[in-house]
Amino acid sequence: QKNGFPHFMLKEIYEQPKIIQTVTNNYLNGNSASELKELFKDINRVYFIGCGTAYYAGLAAGALMEKYFPQEVKNMVASEFRYSEAKVDEHSLVIVISQSGETADTLAALRLAKKRGAKTIGIINVLGSTIAREVDKVFYTLTGPEIAVASTKAYTGQVLTLLYLLHYLAHLESRIGEEKYRAFINAAQQLPGQVTMMLDAISKVEDIAKKYQAVTHFFFIGRQLDYYSTLEGALKLKEIAYIPSESYPAGELKHGPLAMIDEKTLVVALANNDNLMMKMESNIREVKSRGAKVLLISTSRQLTEVSDDFLQIPETEEYLIPILVNVYQQLLAYQMAKLLSRDIDKPRNLAKSVTVE
Ligand code: M6R
Repeated sequence: QKNGFPHFMLKEIYEQPKIIQTVTNNYLNGNSASELKELFKDINRVYFIGCGTAYYAGLAAGALMEKYFPQEVKNMVASEFRYSEAKVDEHSLVIVISQSGETADTLAALRLAKKRGAKTIGIINVLGSTIAREVDKVFYTLTGPEIAVASTKAYTGQVLTLLYLLHYLAHLESRIGEEKYRAFINAAQQLPGQVTMMLDAISKVEDIAKKYQAVTHFFFIGRQLDYYSTLEGALKLKEIAYIPSESYPAGELKHGPLAMIDEKTLVVALANNDNLMMKMESNIREVKSRGAKVLLISTSRQLTEVSDDFLQIPETEEYLIPILVNVYQQLLAYQMAKLLSRDIDKPRNLAKSVTVE
């Protein structure tokens, strides 16, 4: 039931503070860490595999792994992985991510990995689903049923579960110190309150959506982790509002896409990395001088002068930023779709669970 919300998607977006709490309660004690340590033994390559939003959730986790762990990290879309020459053997760990646990390509990727001798982990929402049953070890994301075709709370559950697991492991193996570890835990514990605060600003996002109702295409730009978040932002807009939306690493603009920017473009600029603020500023100036409008989503007010609109991300730990950024992106896509009278919970041509190739 929709609990008074007009759409399941909105209800599920609003469930996120509670889900974050549930995931935290479940993974905070670190019980899974020793099992994880065993699974990582003799591993020299780690793959994060999924489709759509689940693949994007893996990108954020992959970035964290790359920073703290010695293993080679690869993120791959399941439908590519299954036909690739990827080097998968008994020294590989394949982490498959899926809300439904039934996605055909992800399941095929898992089976291929197992056939080649890899160890496997599933980051799954639906209890007892096929993928959950077939992996060596399943970690549930405890998100509850997700009804809307657009994945929202599932992404949050996936990213947070992966971040908890990787932080525990990194701590256990002394790859991060006590201070860094505690800082992550403290920041994660503040997330429910922060997300609630952001959700309370829904009318601000609605005003922004109204202001840009006539925009014909969206460009999401960002660098590093922010770039990964732009992929999910653009997907959501395409999926439920049917608005052409591109996602680019901001540094790529000059290499082609800048030619598409005009006064009918809204550029959503994600700027959450202090070291890259100046680079983002010049990218924003670049698109503004071609007539585009800019919606800035940032932890800092530093670039508000060069932008047209601003949504502020509360202060948090670096790897938790994608979760917060995505809350605004979900609200933005939802509001745009609502203004365009789209079938929000059941977008055309799409199914919730893609069980055929
Ligand atoms: O059930 P899964 O997580 O395996 O589904 C993967 C994708 O089909 C899914 O995330 C899809 O991209 C969403 N509809 C996006 O909102």
